[in-house]
Formats: sequence, structure tokens, C-alpha cells
Amino acid sequence: MRIILATKNRGKIKEINAVLSGTGIEFAGLDLYPDMKDVVEDGITFHENAFKKARAVFDHTGIKCVSEDSGLEVDALNGAPGIYSSRFASENASDSENIGKLINDLTGVPYEKRTARFVSVFCLYDGREARYFEGSVRGHIIDSPRGTSGFGYDPLFVPDGYEKTFAELGSEVKNKISHRAKAISGLKEFLEKDQR
Ligand code: IMP
Repeated sequence: MRIILATKNRGKIKEINAVLSGTGIEFAGLDLYPDMKDVVEDGITFHENAFKKARAVFDHTGIKCVSEDSGLEVDALNGAPGIYSSRFASENASDSENIGKLINDLTGVPYEKRTARFVSVFCLYDGREARYFEGSVRGHIIDSPRGTSGFGYDPLFVPDGYEKTFAELGSEVKNKISHRAKAISGLKEFLEKDQR
């Protein structure tokens, strides 16, 4: 089954394909469509942004597609950066700039109040109907980055039940317990039934 994966984020593509390996479901990247313009993510929820990306890619390619919108919600910051996670420090911020801003905004907040969750929302769109698959993982935000694996805020996030950050735990552990892995497992189940 050929499905377009509506993202150019290499970190996400790698994780999604790792979780789907062996299922017979093939996700083609957007690199096949270099003329596809970036979608403006101006929705106010993860669901809205995921749908906007999926619809834009379907309209361009005519092929069933899957998109994902994700982010980090920090309780002490009233849910920020949330939908603004990739552009927290500035419009084209790098991961390390976003990490720097998060550390700064949480200065003085004690460990027990540094709770947060990663959220992932997938949208599957076939031109008629949109279906959503969600996942989340709770944890704490530490005050200086640790580890080199993964992407985004991974070096600051210690998932509940662990002492290491996602960036220290590495892809094998992250891909079992992450928000994205949980959301994909719902998507995978749906697609496998759909294939029969
Ligand atoms: P999106 O591409 O608009 O969905 O942006 C998601 C942003 O949320 C990423 O650029 C990261 O900053 C953050 N994020 C989402 N998932 C993860 C993750 O698994 N690890 C670390 N950061 C993440």
C-alpha cells in the first residue's frame, strides 16, 4: 500500500519508518514532490495542523496520505510550547535554540514541577474522510541537555519510569514508548485491517 507521508522532517520519517518496518505498508516521502510548497501551520490545535498538512498533500498528489503534528506541552508554562514547539525560540529556530529557550523559561522551577508531555497526532486522509490517531508520553524536563540521539527536545526529556533522557535512551527504547510510537500503533492497526 503506497501512502504519502506529509513531512520533510528527517527525524520523524526515520522514527515512523522504524516503527512500521515489516508491515508491508510503504510510506513515500515528500521528496518525490519537490514542487510541493510548505504548508502554513496556522491551526490552533495539533489536529487542525495535521489535517491541513494531509489535505494540502492530497490535493497536490491525489494519493492517500498521512501527516503528523506533534509537540511538547510543559505544565509550568501552561502547555507551551505546544503547537509552536518547532518555532519556540523564533520562526526558523534550530533544535538547540529551542532547547536554550526552554531551559531559560524554566529557570528556578523545581524538578517536581517540571512535568511535561509529548503529544503526537496523525491524520490519515483519502480525499473524503480524515481519521486521527493520537499518542502521548509524560515525563520531566531537566535543566541541561543530555545525550545525542533523536531530535528536538529529546536531550531535555526524561520519560516517567526512566532516569535517562530520550536522547540518552536511544531509538530502540524511544520507539517503544514515545508519543509517536503510540499514535503509530493505532494507525498501523487501522491500515492493516484496511489492507485485508
Ligand atoms: P511539527 O513538525 O510541526 O510537528 O513540529 C514538531 C516539533 O515538536 C519538533 O520540531 C520538535 O521541536 C518537537 N517534537 C515533536 N516530537 C518530538 C520528539 O519525539 N522529540 C523531541 N522533540 C519533538
